[in-house]
Amino acid sequence: MSDRVVMITGGAGTIGRMLLDRPARERWRSVVLDPTPLPEPFASRGDVEQVLGSLTDADAVRHAMREATDVVHLGALSTEDEWEAILDVNVTGTRTVLDAAEEHGVGRFVYASSNHAVGFYAPSDAGPDGRLADDAPPRPDTYYGWSKAAGEALVRLYCERGSMRGVALRIGHCFPEPLTGPRLPVWLSPGDARGLVDASLHHDIEPFQIVWGVSANARSWCSLEGGRRIGFAPQDDSERYADRFPDAAGVDPDEPLGAHFVHMPLGQSSAVR
Ligand SMILES: NC(=O)c1ccc[n+]([C@@H]2O[C@H](COP(=O)([O-])OP(=O)(O)OC[C@H]3O[C@@H](n4cnc5c(N)ncnc54)[C@H](O)[C@@H]3O)[C@@H](O)[C@H]2O)c1
Repeated sequence: MSDRVVMITGGAGTIGRMLLDRPARERWRSVVLDPTPLPEPFASRGDVEQVLGSLTDADAVRHAMREATDVVHLGALSTEDEWEAILDVNVTGTRTVLDAAEEHGVGRFVYASSNHAVGFYAPSDAGPDGRLADDAPPRPDTYYGWSKAAGEALVRLYCERGSMRGVALRIGHCFPEPLTGPRLPVWLSPGDARGLVDASLHHDIEPFQIVWGVSANARSWCSLEGGRRIGFAPQDDSERYADRFPDAAGVDPDEPLGAHFVHMPLGQSSAVR
């Protein structure tokens, strides 16, 4: 028997594999719902079960949810795409996962939102403390970013009406190492991603809150307050990679948070993240 069974949608993706990349924990299991098979070594771990299926399929979602105590909802089209596809997977799919979570009575719902929900803010829009609030009103930069803002509001709806507690993580740039200079301020390291999700699952929290998902980057201008409230103490700093990007000398006060997303054509699928 496990005390904690965490259902992870999209768990075979970049962040899902980061979350699984740790030693097994006592009385803790993960159930991954993803149409993409988990690679080794995760596929053959005794504490990880995989349900091959889509979060748009209510039966598959209910099956993956059958023993869940909590949900980490990562599954999504994770960059710009056609409007219908974004609506189907990121919006209706999120409602399907929320319906199953509520029906099953899960405790925590951790939602992977994105900096692209607020991608049009620039450092010059920050508050008197020089930081952008965790719950700054949405200013999406793409249909993708809009779907993440819609998802935040949908999670809030279910949490405020019911007994589930929700945390929406406005994730910055979460890759093993920063991929571009303009993303240095919003990098979220793998270790900090695990710490952030752990804090979201464990800490005593309000029914719903929004928290920035960025590391302790010297260049960050995102609030640390929401993370502090849930006991998240980021450890990493993208500055150690800064010499790889000599063109990104500092923080441009007018560079939008969403970087290149603000220029992407709306509704065109893109491999660039
Ligand atoms: N990595 C980042 O920098 C970043 C930044 C902001 C937000 N996010 C968000 O965090 C989440 C995880 O990001 P990631 O980088 O791991 O993305 P990813 O694209 O690497 O992984 C997404 C996973 O979701 C799965 N998926 C897609 N459609 C699905 C469906 N219909 N049903 C079930 N699973 C489905 C994919 O197979 C994939 O394994 C996403 O919601 C993304 O929008 C990521």
